[in-house]
Amino acid sequence: MSQVRMIMPFMDWDEIYSVKIGSLDKQHKKIIDMINDLHDRIAEGEDRKKLDEILVHLSVYTVKHFIYEESLFKKHGYKYQQEHKKEHDELAERVTEFHKRHTIQKKGIQKELLEFFKNQLHNHLITYDQKYSNFMSNHGVK
Ligand SMILES: [Fe+2]
Ligand SMILES: [Fe+2]
Repeated sequence: MSQVRMIMPFMDWDEIYSVKIGSLDKQHKKIIDMINDLHDRIAEGEDRKKLDEILVHLSVYTVKHFIYEESLFKKHGYKYQQEHKKEHDELAERVTEFHKRHTIQKKGIQKELLEFFKNQLHNHLITYDQKYSNFMSNHGVK
C-alpha cells in the first residue's frame, strides 16, 4: 500500500462521502483503500489464496466498523439505529454470501464482487451514514 499506485484507483474518496466525523471518515477511507487494494491485486493476477485473505480482512474490518457505528448509535440514542443496523446486517450477510461463492466457484467472480463492494459502499455512505452526520456532530462525536 505504500507503493506508488500505478493504475487509477478503482474507487475515489469524495467529499460527498464525508460524515464530518474524523474517526468515521477515517474508517470509511480505510474501507475504500482496502477495496482499491483488492482491485489492484486482482488486476495484477494475485493468486486465489491471497485474494481470499484480503477478502476476509476487508469483511472483518467492515463488520468491525458496523459494530463501532452501532455502538455510537446506542450510546447517543440515535433515532434511526434500528433501520441502520438492519441495513448493516443485510450487507454483512451479502458479503458472506459473496465470499462463499468466491471460495467454491472455480471461475472468479472478482469483477462482480468489486462492483458490489463499490456500489454498496457508495449507496450506504450517501444515504444511511450521511443521515447520522448532524446528529453525531451535535453529540460531540469526533
Ligand atoms: Fe459507515
Ligand atoms: Fe453505516
